[in-house]
This record gives sequence, structure tokens and C-alpha cells, in this order.
Amino acid sequence: MEGMIDLFQKIGLTEQRAKDTAKNKKLAPTLERTITEAGVQDGCDKNIGALLYTLASTLNKEATPHLPYLAQAVISGKLASTEQIAAAIEYVSNLRDSQINEQEFNQHCGVGVVITPEQVQHEVSQQIEQNKEKILSDRYRCLGITLSTIKQNPELKWANGAVVKDEVEKQFLALLGPKDERDQVVKGKKKEKKEKPSADKKASSAPVKKDPNSIFFEGELSRLHKPGGNKQIKDELMIEHLKATGGKVVTRFPPEPNGFLHIGHAKAININFGYAEAHNGICYLRYDDTNPEAEEEQYFISILETVKWLGFTPYKITYSSDYFQRLYELAVFMIQKDLAYVCYCTGEEIYAQRGGAEKGPRYECSHRNRPIEESLAEFEKMKQGQYKEGEAILRMKMNMQDGNPQFWDLVAYRILYTPHHRTGSEWCIYPTYDFTHCLVDSFENITHSLCTTEFTQSRPSYFWLCDAVEVYKPVQWEYGRLNVTNTVLSKRKVLELVELGHVHDWDDPRLFTLAAIRRRGVPPEAINIFVRELGVTTSKSTIDVARLDNHIRDHLNETVPRVMALLEPLKVTLTNLPGDYLEEITVPNKPRDPKLGEHIVPFTKTVYIDRSDFREQDSSDYFRLAPGKSVGLLHVKFPITCQDVVKDAAGNIVELICHYDNEGEFKKPKTYIQWVADSPAHNSPVKIDEIRLYEKLFFHANPQDKTAVPGGWLSDINPDSIQIHRGAILEVGIWDVIKRWYEQAVAKQHVDRIEDIRFQLIRIGYFCFDKDSQFNEEEFKKDPSKAFKSLILNRTVTLKEDSKKEN
Ligand SMILES: *[C@@H]1O[C@H](CO)[C@@H](O)[C@H](O)[C@H]1NC(C)=O
Ligand SMILES: *[C@@H]1O[C@H](CO)[C@@H](O)[C@H](O)[C@H]1NC(C)=O
Ligand SMILES: *[C@@H]1O[C@H](CO)[C@@H](O)[C@H](O)[C@H]1NC(C)=O
Ligand SMILES: *[C@@H]1O[C@H](CO)[C@@H](O)[C@H](O)[C@H]1NC(C)=O
Repeated sequence: MEGMIDLFQKIGLTEQRAKDTAKNKKLAPTLERTITEAGVQDGCDKNIGALLYTLASTLNKEATPHLPYLAQAVISGKLASTEQIAAAIEYVSNLRDSQINEQEFNQHCGVGVVITPEQVQHEVSQQIEQNKEKILSDRYRCLGITLSTIKQNPELKWANGAVVKDEVEKQFLALLGPKDERDQVVKGKKKEKKEKPSADKKASSAPVKKDPNSIFFEGELSRLHKPGGNKQIKDELMIEHLKATGGKVVTRFPPEPNGFLHIGHAKAININFGYAEAHNGICYLRYDDTNPEAEEEQYFISILETVKWLGFTPYKITYSSDYFQRLYELAVFMIQKDLAYVCYCTGEEIYAQRGGAEKGPRYECSHRNRPIEESLAEFEKMKQGQYKEGEAILRMKMNMQDGNPQFWDLVAYRILYTPHHRTGSEWCIYPTYDFTHCLVDSFENITHSLCTTEFTQSRPSYFWLCDAVEVYKPVQWEYGRLNVTNTVLSKRKVLELVELGHVHDWDDPRLFTLAAIRRRGVPPEAINIFVRELGVTTSKSTIDVARLDNHIRDHLNETVPRVMALLEPLKVTLTNLPGDYLEEITVPNKPRDPKLGEHIVPFTKTVYIDRSDFREQDSSDYFRLAPGKSVGLLHVKFPITCQDVVKDAAGNIVELICHYDNEGEFKKPKTYIQWVADSPAHNSPVKIDEIRLYEKLFFHANPQDKTAVPGGWLSDINPDSIQIHRGAILEVGIWDVIKRWYEQAVAKQHVDRIEDIRFQLIRIGYFCFDKDSQFNEEEFKKDPSKAFKSLILNRTVTLKEDSKKEN
């Protein structure tokens, strides 16, 4: 061990690194061997040492037999960068049994290619010049894409990565000047390895400058092919494709219009629209409407609304049904090529052919080898409506012996007599998802078909089908789907919750459909930041719902006005003030944030405080109001002192008699509480009919876990997931909040839904209006205080992570 540490230091590793490396059971012997093969046991230049270290740490099994050659290539200066070492390892790994051909090796690894700093400078400035307009407008947000584009430049293939990066940064600085507030697009959080519970709030909400698009240039997404980079069975296909797209990235978001979107789809939407946007490409919204039985108008509408609400604009809205004719023609073409056949097997028969329940041997059905002419005629009969539903299908002739079930002669067409939402009764044969999806991707010239890992197995059959019908073949790539704790997302389960009355509807704020999240008053920006912060990897993730709540809170904390509210008002009479006493107090809508403006609240002889801010039994650690004690009223100049308590016959406290301490020496109160004054002239207080507070709908992180929840997921429902308070009052600042929202709406020429009116009720949480409040625009213009039929507020999220603590 000692000897090894010594040896590693000789080639330039620091003492710590040498020690750490010596402890690494895999790397240490490889590095030792590399040093021996290079013949530098007595030491060498630090840069050579670093290259040897790179070689040793990236060496794979196939390349190991070639270590002597590679080590010598480093010593002789042939391999002088990490990029070259990576290329060398790649070259030798693919040799299998053949010998190293020196000429090929040199060419593959760019041996002898010298790239001068001037060349780097030239290529970088050309690239920047070409995109100057965009860079000037988007500034440092373009840095990622500029770098990744330059790395694709063949002229710079062998340039030192660090030098190129330096050069790009230098030229950005020269063009744009240092980063400033224009570059702080997003307030995000540092990626934390593990979510800390609630402690360390300060540190974790420190704003970090992060480009929201950077996820598209990181990790696996950064390694996706560039348009034009995916091989086709015929070269012309790519030439035509590039002609049609101009080399742009083209993606699509392809929901089936048979349900509402949920939080998981927010990820799909962000990835598909975001990836295209980040690469200056385009993204389609495509309704995958190949099942006439499940589609309903309301889903089409709600999907589009949700996409727009999240802030994305489809390049074009399309429907799989737009392509029914072309799909049909390709199906005929497949039969003609003997790659599809009409089959009369039932579902059970097909199941048995695929190995059945015991996953036994698989076999082909008797229709598989019928003559082409016969299948053509039968398919025509299917189309003509001469078969009943289920009597005949079209199957693709794939490979029943393939290990991948996606090759077991998938169904391409089935018969359905339900009229289609768009094509009516024009067709009675409908293409399946498996047949439609990849072909429509191809028709729309999709470059990157991004989907969740459930479809990984479909990737080979996706490619197979495009090649079989000889059309342009997009690349499919899968990412892990997003799931959150303490809820269920599946359509069937959500439907069950609605039917059993555990929630009110699909968009009940306790659910995680995007419609529900929206109705809970959650700002779309918070969802997007949440999704992007999670990053895009192939692993599935179930994210603690608390983490989403944190993003919502952070966003609302920064953006919404504050309003004083009392859930349980208690009357306070200030005996030393005259009956007509009035002070108009200016209150900031958000402390220390003048951009949100201010409003006026009246202060009079009669005010209300929250019952929880008064105690009859005082104690030394209690700082709010008690008999004989003083407390401050938020924004009011002087404190009040409680002199007497008035009770009703039953002994309940109904009023406090207090003194406004506006004479004598000013004593700063220990704390301030919320209040609302009585002033009919100001329409104060504002009486709230209902305040609805929500809690998690399920107790367990995974309600479907049979061990944790033996009684089944429905037994895990929190019976107190909604609490309704009646009789609360607010200060008049709420009208100011509503007025501002309305003015912005008028400026945008579009009155949003009232759940987009968001505000904080101090100490209680973030809220929005419930649609049951029934906003009336005409009334509002005459007298805002009469604009609502009733006032109903829904809590979006609590102020802090643990809502229990607050109450
Ligand atoms: C897709 O590309 C083809 C050429 O390969 C072109 O004919 C077609 O119009 C393009 N379709 C769309 C929707 O861009
Ligand atoms: C809200 O934002 C302010 C800064 O505007 C910050 O000081 C405060 O800690 C935030 N509050 C919470 C609960 O995150
Ligand atoms: C979400 O995760 C739970 C496990 O936590 C799993 O039971 C459920 O099927 C997942 N839902 C989706 C839609 O993936
Ligand atoms: C408010 O809560 C009620 C009851 O749960 C619900 O029906 C309504 O959709 C909610 N509204 C909003 C805007 O969240």
C-alpha cells in the first residue's frame, strides 16, 4: 500500500488522491500496471501522469489486452487529450480478435492533428456570429446550446474540451458583459442529494441561478443524436426528411384523449416542448385518437388547456386520425410485402400462441401463412364492414420466437363500429397504438420520439415497423416517469375515488390531476420548476409530495400579496377612542417588496382579532394578548392593552375591552398580531363564507403498498383531508388583490379563472378563490364588493412544511 501511494505520487497525483486511489481495489492495480507498461515507475511529467490516470480509470474489459500499446501511445505523445484516450479505448474495444492497424488507429484517434488556439477562436466566433441575434436576446441561457453545438463541429473534434469551453465563455463575456439580473431567470434550489425534512429552510431556499433549459444539455439528453444523425434503411429518406425539416429538432406530445392529464404528464410536456424549444425546434400536440370508444370532447379541451396553462404553445395540433388513410395504405403495403396477414384468432387463442399463462412455447397461428391475395381480399372485407367486431384482425408478421413480446405478431388493425369523434362512420377498422404511433411520428418527421420507460420494449418494434414500410425512422428515447407520494394517479383509481364520493370530481384540489392542481391555485411556474429540477434520467422516480409543495410555497412566497385574515374573530373595543375615530393606515401588499404596491385599511374604535391570539390564563412565555397585557396590531402605530373580558351567559368570551396606548411613553410591544377593523364605510370587514383547508388525501407515501396498507388503498384515505371554516373575516386588502388581478387580465385581454387570484392569508397559508364564489365581471365593474355571489377560499398550500405545527 505504502509503495503504491509513493508510486502514484511520482506520476503527479496529490498525496490525498494517491491515498484514495490506492484504496480503490479495482483502479489501484490497473493504474500500477499502466505505469509499468508506460515505463515511468520513476516518475514523469504531471500532465502525462494525468493522462495515464485517465487511461487506467476509463479502461474497459475489451481494451485491457491492449493496455501496453495504449500506455506507449500516451508516452510517445500520440494520445495527448482525454478525448483521444476515449477514442483510442473505443477503437481497441471494437477490434475483437483483429490486430491494431496503426494507420486506422491514428486516424480514429486524431493522432497528429494539431488544433491551434487561433483555430478554436475562429470556429467559436463563427458559431457565435451565426447565432448572434438569439444570443443577444437570450444571453447566457444560450451558453449551453452554443457549447454543445460547437462540440459537434468536426473541425474541433480533437480540440481540447477545456480550451474550447474557455474560449466560448471568453467570447460570451466580450459580447454580453458579465452576467446580471437579466440572466437570473429562475429561482431554483441547489440539487440536494437527500431531501432534508424541514430544517435548514434558509439555506435551501437560497436562489441559485440556473438555466431552466439546462436539463436538455445535461446527462443522457445531451447525448441524443442531432437531427440527421440517425441512420435510415435508405439514404434518400434522410435527405428528404432534412429537406422538410431544415434540420430542426421536431418533437411531439401525444396524449390519448381518454382522460385528464396528471402530474406525471407535466414532465412529458416539459420534456417534449422543452427539448424542442431549447434546440430552436418545434413540438406538435398530437391527440392519439385511435380508440373511438374512449374519447370524449371534454378530454380534448382539457388537454389543450393544460398545455397552454403550463406555458407551452404547440407548433400545430394534429390527430392520429388525420392519417387514417395513409396508415391504411401502409397496412395494405405490408400485406403485399407478406409482412401482415388477416387472422381470425380470438384474444385467448393469441394469448395461448404467445405462451399463455405458463409462458410455455410460442407458436404461429394457421392464418399466418395464408396467401397474400387472400389477406388482401379479407382486409378489404374487414374495411367493408363484412365482419363483426372481434371476428377478424390484421396482424403483423414479426417473429414469434424473438425474446421480446413486442415481436409476437402484434395486432395492427381491429374492427370497431363505434363512430369516431372526428371521422364518424367513415372507418370501421382502426389501427392500434403499436401500428400508429411510430408511423405517425414518421409522417410528422419527428426527430426525437421521447416517451416513458414503459415503452422501452417497444423501441425495437418501432424501428422494425418503420423499416418494414420503408419510411423515415425517428429515434425513440425513454425517460423514467414521474410519480408522487401520498396519492394515486391511475385513471381507474381516480374515477373510483370520484364515484365513491371521497373527492368531488376529477379536479378536486386534493388530487394530482393537472386540472386539480390548477384549481388548487398552484402557479404553473412552480410545477415547471419542480419538474425540471428533478432532471431527466431513465430511472423512475416517486417524489415526496412535500417537495412539490416546497416549490409551490417558494414561488408564492415571492410573488403574492399578503392579507390579514381571522378564522375565528373576537371583538375588541378600544374604550379610549371616540365612536367616529378613523385612521387610514397604509399597508404594503408584501413587506419589503414595493413592486407589489400597497393598500389602505381603516382603523377604528371596534376591531377584531383572532380568538387564538387571546388567552385568559397568561404565562411568562406567552407574548400575545391576555388580561392586563399589551400587544401590537400589525402596521398600527401604538399597541393595545387588555383591560377587561366580556362573557355571555354560557361563559364564552364575546368581547375584549382594551385601551389604545396612544399617549404617554411609547413601549415597543413584544409581538404583533393580525386584526380587522369594523368600518361599514370601507366595507370592512370582508366576510368570508367558507375557507377550505386541505390535507393529504392518503396517509401513506404509497397507498398501494400491500404491506404498509393491508386494508387496501381505499382504507388509507384521510377522513379529515378537507376542513371547512365558516365565519372568517378578512381585511379590505383583498379587494386590492382582486383589482390588480382584474387589471392584469384586462391588459392581457383575457380574464383568467379566479383560482389564478393568489394571495397569502398571513399565518394561515396560501389561498385562491374557489370557482363556487361565482365572479361576475359586470357587477365587478360597478362595485367590486358585489362581484361575488359568495366568498369561498381554498388553501393551495400551508405556509410551512408541517401544517400541524401551525394550528
Ligand atoms: C415530412 O417529411 C416529408 C419528406 O420526408 C415531407 O414530404 C412531409 O411534408 C413532411 N411532413 C411534415 C408534416 O412536415
Ligand atoms: C420568503 O421569502 C423571503 C424573501 O423574500 C425569505 O426571507 C423568507 O425566508 C421566505 N419565507 C419562506 C417561508 O420561505
Ligand atoms: C406510483 O408509484 C407507486 C409506488 O409508490 C406505484 O404503486 C404506482 O403504480 C405508481 N403510479 C404510476 C402512475 O406509475
Ligand atoms: C375548492 O374546494 C372545493 C371543495 O373541495 C372544490 O369543489 C373546489 O373545486 C375547490 N376550488 C378550487 C379553486 O380549488
